[in-house]
Amino acid sequence: MRELQRHRVYDLLKKDSSHLLGKEVNIKGWVRTRRGSKHVAFIAVNDGSIIHSIQVVVDIQAFKDEEVLRNITTGACISVNGTLVESKGKGQAVEIKATKIFLYGAADPEKYPLQKKGHTLEFLREIAHLRPRTNTFGAIFRIRHALSFAIHKFFNDNGFFYLHTPIITGSDAEGAGAMFRVTTLDMKNPPFTKEGEVDFSKDFFGKETNLTVSGQLEGELGALALSNIYTFGPTFRAENSHTSRHLSEFWMIEPEMAFYDIHDNMDLAESFLKYLIRYLLDHCTDDLEFLQKMYDKGLTERLHMIVDNEFKRLTYTQAIEILEGSGQAFEFPVSWGVDLQSEHERYLVEKEFGCPVILTDYPRQIKAFYMKLNDDGNTVRAMDVLFPKIGEIVGGSQREENYEKLHGRIREMGIHEEEVWWYLETRKFGTAPHSGFGLGFERLMLFVTGMGNIRDVIPFPRAPQNADF
Ligand code: 4AD
Ligand code: MG
Repeated sequence: MRELQRHRVYDLLKKDSSHLLGKEVNIKGWVRTRRGSKHVAFIAVNDGSIIHSIQVVVDIQAFKDEEVLRNITTGACISVNGTLVESKGKGQAVEIKATKIFLYGAADPEKYPLQKKGHTLEFLREIAHLRPRTNTFGAIFRIRHALSFAIHKFFNDNGFFYLHTPIITGSDAEGAGAMFRVTTLDMKNPPFTKEGEVDFSKDFFGKETNLTVSGQLEGELGALALSNIYTFGPTFRAENSHTSRHLSEFWMIEPEMAFYDIHDNMDLAESFLKYLIRYLLDHCTDDLEFLQKMYDKGLTERLHMIVDNEFKRLTYTQAIEILEGSGQAFEFPVSWGVDLQSEHERYLVEKEFGCPVILTDYPRQIKAFYMKLNDDGNTVRAMDVLFPKIGEIVGGSQREENYEKLHGRIREMGIHEEEVWWYLETRKFGTAPHSGFGLGFERLMLFVTGMGNIRDVIPFPRAPQNADF
């Protein structure tokens, strides 16, 4: 038999398939449900190309292959040849009247974990190898793809170059938190120095190395040559955080721009976030509708809130005054100098302003060494973008471009100069004002999907005590 060309379910349900009506088509995919009677079976087949399944109708009397028919249960993988016809049922325009079905792989109904519907997200996390086959995770991973694509498109269309920064790093200059050690030393029998410390000069790279917490410092090197660059890669933080907004391995987008001050930086962050959300509203309608229906009734309204509003910009100091005057009983009390918690950030966004907020000019003590010092000597030119439900989604700053000031900050914060000499050199040779920020990809995914836990927006979450898949 001549192999029919396979159609994706997307092509049949979403594109104009009228020219195929009455013709023989082939689809391949996984059985979502099977219902029907002695005479007729209705099989919903999903191939992941779209949230919807296509209905396959089997006339049982006319269908010869009983063995195959018996094995068509939820989770089985099949290839279907049949005639594309207009559907009499509700909910779909076309369906397939099967003429031949080939079984690639059965899924024993007694054992297949997704046999029944309605599993909790917690349970699905324990079967991360199978959860992509649910409608929920299909929708999430398609949105994840679309969002990644939109990020590259935005930067490409705006003259930014994608710079690949290293994952293994010899410096912990960011100071963003504990790092994961990378070593090939024998853990049971490491070499020691005369002083009795582990001798990393004998390690693979001849020094201590870790997984990166951020591509920023290397990104700056790129910006001070190519003007506008961005990174988009995995970053790693070994903090023991068990919150619904932290991962040990997460993806970060970090644009870095020469000749941008903090205002240019804020403008870019705002237009970037709006572009991405608009892109999803335009391109992921079916998946967003599904997530809205199942998980978060306010989802699209919240997405429109971002696109339709100007982000409110104010300083950290102004924000502290508002929080202190709010009469709100926060779990973590606020006063000038404290790092803001998500309860504070969310208060500002959700209660005070009702729109996204950008806070600037944070106390120098709570921010990284590379941020540009303001003339007041107390604050730095930092900016955090705060979103409803999430709190901080973007963190960035104008960078200190003055060699002496940067050098002073490095000393003051006890950073080893020999780790960052290359970074300092950019301020010695042809320094320039520049700025950048980091967008947590999964934080944005949380926001756009309406999911409550960050472990549900990445295929294989890495978190403390959790690297099973
Ligand atoms: O605020 P952070 O630590 O900033 C940086 O790393 C800078 N180097 C960025 C830059 O200026 N180029 O992290 C940036 C963003 C946060 O705003 C948050 O969205 C996300 O990364 N993020 C995390 N997301 C998931 N899990 C974690 N553990 C995260 N830590 C930070
Ligand atoms: Mg931050």
